[in-house]
Amino acid sequence: MLQFSVRGMRVDCADEGASKMANTVVVGAMWGDESKGKLIDYLAHDKDVVVRWGGGSNAGHTVVVGDQEYKLHLVPAGILHPETLCVVADGVVLDPASFVGELETLQARGISCENLKISGNAHVVLPYHRLLDELEEKRKGAKALGTTGRGIGPAYQDKAARTGIRMRDFVNPQLFPAKLAEALEYKNQLLTKIYGAEPMDAATILDQLLPHAEKLRPYVDDTALRVAYAARSGKEVLFEGAQATLLDIDLGTYPYVTSSHPSAGGSCIGTGLGPTQIDQIIAVSKSYTTRVGAGAFPTEQVNALGDLIRERGAEYGTTTGRPRRCGWLDGVALRYSALVNGLTDLYLGHMDVLCGFDEVKIATAYMLDGEKIVDFPSDQDRLCRCEPVYMTLPGWKEDVSDIREYAALPENAQRFIEAVEQLIEVPITMVSVGRRRDQTIFRGR
Ligand code: IMP
Repeated sequence: MLQFSVRGMRVDCADEGASKMANTVVVGAMWGDESKGKLIDYLAHDKDVVVRWGGGSNAGHTVVVGDQEYKLHLVPAGILHPETLCVVADGVVLDPASFVGELETLQARGISCENLKISGNAHVVLPYHRLLDELEEKRKGAKALGTTGRGIGPAYQDKAARTGIRMRDFVNPQLFPAKLAEALEYKNQLLTKIYGAEPMDAATILDQLLPHAEKLRPYVDDTALRVAYAARSGKEVLFEGAQATLLDIDLGTYPYVTSSHPSAGGSCIGTGLGPTQIDQIIAVSKSYTTRVGAGAFPTEQVNALGDLIRERGAEYGTTTGRPRRCGWLDGVALRYSALVNGLTDLYLGHMDVLCGFDEVKIATAYMLDGEKIVDFPSDQDRLCRCEPVYMTLPGWKEDVSDIREYAALPENAQRFIEAVEQLIEVPITMVSVGRRRDQTIFRGR
């Protein structure tokens, strides 16, 4: 029997799987790549609706079901459950070619995409966004952000400037060509006069994109209303986060962030549910920390230890293949994430990767300019001067990947988990010990 609490009420749950919670948000705890896809896929089997609320094909989820591996970028991971309504909501920026490619790959593997809906308000990533992303990174030189190069920043820039093209207009053959021509007038000035690049040709872009618009038209919908009505009729919604809290444009380590709101609050923007309708907010964290792209990372290990974690954890980007920067678990950043997301639960993953170390470390504070601080400074200027203060715990040698019960974990692994829990003051209700769906340990509170 598992026990969970919903709005302060204890709920007993006979099911051996995850709790049945009405509306659940899943976020990445730190800088992304926490393997949210596995939890989302697991929770989706119990939900009626799965909503992806932000980001674009900069994200990458790998879901392993049996011996099958699925790499998803924009299509919600709920797609692997045929009964689940999958929604790409307003806050997403959608690259048509990459989205259609993903759909076709799934369909070729026998996955039905019939229950997929795309918000007409989602913005389109156009070829000039990708080019501008690349040119802007080059222009910045040593100060480059290390973006994924998927045109995300420039697409959100257009959205905020109110010059973007939305999905509803993209799939309307009467509107899209004129909107594209208007946008290109300005973009070509930018390309040629600021970046010294070649202008782009509207006819070539139309040739490339109109077939994709045809394919995507049937999926375009008023998704916010659909989700709102589903929730009102008692359906359960899962919000699938992409990227992670410290990459949030407001709460994250600006400017080394993405251009959307991957923290929990973002799940309510443009999706059809308001904050009062969220019952559970789960962050996914690894039992160590990784980061891709540039920006301060106090617990980074640029040494053999970092290389070992990278190799054991296969820490290479799903989207770009880039090696991830690796280090000890940053408890200061994790506590910040718990606070600003209003977490109800933490899912601690990759415990199998930490096996075999004599000792393991968790940063519990930072030294900043000779002073010990416990609160995470999200501004780059202070963060890059922080030195971690570690709590050192004994490691565990036993392989944990076949363990399915908390009590069967090595004592030192339990100690590690409980130390994290105490530090962030949020219950760790799930522990992952491997990539497969079944390699998960569920704990009561
Ligand atoms: P952008 O989202 O491509 O503009 O990249 C901005 C920053 O966010 C870069 O540091 C990227 O490496 C990082 N980023 C974007 N998406 C992800 C993700 O899914 N996982 C990890 N980092 C990401």
